[in-house]
Amino acid sequence: MKRRNFLKRTVVGAAALLTGNALSPLAQSEEPKPVGFPFEPIRPSSEDELILPRGFHYNVIRAWGDAVTSRERFGFNCDFTAFLPLRGQASDEGLLWVNHEYTGSLKDSGNYGATFARVIGGKPTMDDLKLDIGASVLHIRLNARTHRWEFVDGSRYNRRITASPSNRPELLSGDGPVVQDVFEKHNIDGLGRQIHGTLQNCGGAQTPWGTILSCEENFQDNVPEPVDFSGRGEIGDGTKHPFKYLGSKYGWVVEVDPLEPQSTPVKHTALGRFRHENVAIWARDGKPIVCYMAEDRSQGHVWKFVSREPYRIGAQNRAKNKTLLSEGRLFAARFEANGEGRWIALDLGSEVTPLKGARLPKIPGGAKKLGDIYTSPGAILVDAYFAANLAGSTPIPHPEDVEIYPLDGSVYVAINAGNGDSDWFKPEHGQILRLAEASEAAESRRFQWSRFSISGEAPSAGGYANPDNLLFDSKANLWVVTDIFSNYLNDPKNSAGRYGNNGLFVIPTAGNQKGKALQFASGPCECEMTGPSFTPDEATLFLSIQHPGEANATRDGIKVKAPQGSNWPAKKLGEAPRPAVVAIGRR
Ligand code: FEO
Ligand code: CA
Ligand code: CA
Ligand code: CA
Repeated sequence: MKRRNFLKRTVVGAAALLTGNALSPLAQSEEPKPVGFPFEPIRPSSEDELILPRGFHYNVIRAWGDAVTSRERFGFNCDFTAFLPLRGQASDEGLLWVNHEYTGSLKDSGNYGATFARVIGGKPTMDDLKLDIGASVLHIRLNARTHRWEFVDGSRYNRRITASPSNRPELLSGDGPVVQDVFEKHNIDGLGRQIHGTLQNCGGAQTPWGTILSCEENFQDNVPEPVDFSGRGEIGDGTKHPFKYLGSKYGWVVEVDPLEPQSTPVKHTALGRFRHENVAIWARDGKPIVCYMAEDRSQGHVWKFVSREPYRIGAQNRAKNKTLLSEGRLFAARFEANGEGRWIALDLGSEVTPLKGARLPKIPGGAKKLGDIYTSPGAILVDAYFAANLAGSTPIPHPEDVEIYPLDGSVYVAINAGNGDSDWFKPEHGQILRLAEASEAAESRRFQWSRFSISGEAPSAGGYANPDNLLFDSKANLWVVTDIFSNYLNDPKNSAGRYGNNGLFVIPTAGNQKGKALQFASGPCECEMTGPSFTPDEATLFLSIQHPGEANATRDGIKVKAPQGSNWPAKKLGEAPRPAVVAIGRR
């Protein structure tokens, strides 16, 4: 029997669309034809369960602590996922990429520390912190009899990428301008272009050539963030910054090739160093690659990278395509009140024209260009956040996921929160913006921006709060997960308390339901659902259940009672909650 997909297919294969790139025939041709939704939206819930519409089921593929290889376990707080078919567009077997974002420190009493003894055993060490972040590659297969996705134990593809624990050090590599201008010039850690692992891996993307981009977000929790104007960074002291690594080597986009399990991941410094939430890729045959990125912090930016060399479609160009992100130009967005915007290039010639209220470093008097401040192009890239502020990029409250609308290449940006000071970014519970380039993306330096959706409507009116990860399906519906701060969830004293647990919503971009948020899933207590992705046939949706029980850890029914704490996925009072990646399908 043919497997049924989530939303009845319209005219084209889903796979190309999901990558939002030149492989997509729909991008040039037909509008999707919305035919209504084959799911009945659910209501907000505070139940400690992953609740789905009638007719859908889920199964846990791997949870924190489960084996990935004989020596390594599945990490904590899973995030971005991507499915890489092993044969063509096969949707029944492939590699599932899963980011692991963060743990917590050895000192804090958060859910990691509170549940470690029960899940892993003993007390966490520094090496545990390094092992439980990074990413996992899981070889998975759909069991045709049970309709459940199963982990293929012992596969040569199964892999952990970590922050390089001492008992299994893992050296990655860097490329791009920062290697010579900064890493090799100062060589503070003696490693040159080599880098100890990756950390705080939040969002990401699948490239059209079948590799994964994984984004290092809140690296400042583990290593020192500041660098000087020559790009010189500091090594963590082991206390304030627990990892004794050189801070300038984190906060990058990492490219990994899961199809080649022995390959060395590469940090592409040309894409800039900042708290990378994620990256979205636009690729047209014969044109440079365009990456859109966002930076989740209180005064973050929206970014664009344009590769120097053009993308060429086809497997024979794979090796060349894997080098595309090594060289190019980085831009930061400037929004104007009239709905116009422009991309500000960040290089030595960029003018210093900061906006009022932007966070700025102390700069030399009389500096007119970034080149009067920074000593090299690499020094700008390694301090990209401050360089963007100096060059006049607009500070935005917590820009999170960025996705490209497959029909026209416009760029959707989830703004997680509001900022009462700014007219544009006032909505307390965030909003979703849409940016449309003025011309072909690789060349365009101007855009128009507008609001696609404002969060904060009442749940009874189809409202949602605090949008985070986004995903377009083959019918160009926007899938949105929410990230309401764990302590606010279900708190009647907080304006976010009325939304129940964090949810997953579908917002049609066309048809008579256009703009309406239809709830598809409600997560377990105190979790955030992250990293939704589909198989090419859209019969399966993968989803990370991140930090169940984040605020109150294990629910015991005595000290920690519903709706606080969690016991998911065991669903037994007293059992520790565990982050996990799940597969969702129709029954
Ligand atoms: Fe990792 Fe901004 O969420
Ligand atoms: Ca996020
Ligand atoms: Ca988030
Ligand atoms: Ca979060």
